[in-house]
Amino acid sequence: MIEAKGVSLRYPDGTVALKDINLHIKPGEMVYITGPSGSGKTSLLKLLLGIEFPTFGSLKVMDKSMVRSRKGRINKLRRRIGPVFQEFKLIEGRTALENVMIGMRFLGKSPRKIKEEAINALKRVGLEEKIYSKVENLSWGQQQRVAIARAVARKPALILADEPTGNLDYDNAINILKLLNSFKDSNTTVIITTHATHLIEGQKDVTYIHVNNGSITVEREELAV
Ligand SMILES: Nc1ncnc2c1ncn2[C@@H]1O[C@H](COP(=O)(O)OP(=O)(O)OP(=O)(O)O)[C@@H](O)[C@H]1O
Ligand SMILES: [Mg+2]
Repeated sequence: MIEAKGVSLRYPDGTVALKDINLHIKPGEMVYITGPSGSGKTSLLKLLLGIEFPTFGSLKVMDKSMVRSRKGRINKLRRRIGPVFQEFKLIEGRTALENVMIGMRFLGKSPRKIKEEAINALKRVGLEEKIYSKVENLSWGQQQRVAIARAVARKPALILADEPTGNLDYDNAINILKLLNSFKDSNTTVIITTHATHLIEGQKDVTYIHVNNGSITVEREELAV
């Protein structure tokens, strides 16, 4: 699913955000990325989504080399990735349903099928009552769930979520994490960055990536056999 060898990321202003990252992630893995503010968590997700590219090293996502010169192919790859990023804002003035459907228009499915699957995704995140509500009239937690529905409606092989629990209270944060967790069946790889380490400690069958000043350590909690 993901193979990083000696990956470094240096931004144009000289900031080295990631240093010599080696990482192997399998299909269906549930991964939490933690670490202090500014340590490189979002940068790592941006590499996986092809928003940024490695300065050194090699990175493959679903067998595609993530290099800037292959942008056309990477745009295609992105259709198999469900991103939940704060910078991909919901479109105001549109309903929850329209926001989810917009992300599905490249799938080559009929409008009827798209609508049906978008409604199913909104049901799965518990928003059946808000399908026809304008997104600006939803609470923050509900908007976060629309963003998740938008990401998962097209059945991506990889879900990338950057701080999906940010600004949520304890119960809502737990629910969002449980929801994202539930997608790892069906062999979807789920990668989540979060500051809320107290919410994710001690889980089984998950991978923790700790980012510290651009370097990572990986810890795998295997299922007890
Ligand atoms: N576009 C950019 N240009 C230059 N430096 C950047 C850019 N984006 C991020 N950085 C820097 O790279 C480092 C890592 O940033 P990143 O956003 O990956 O951290 P983070 O772990 O996600 O932090 P947070 O927990 O606050 O979201 C920081 O020093 C940041 O200032
Ligand atoms: Mg970040």
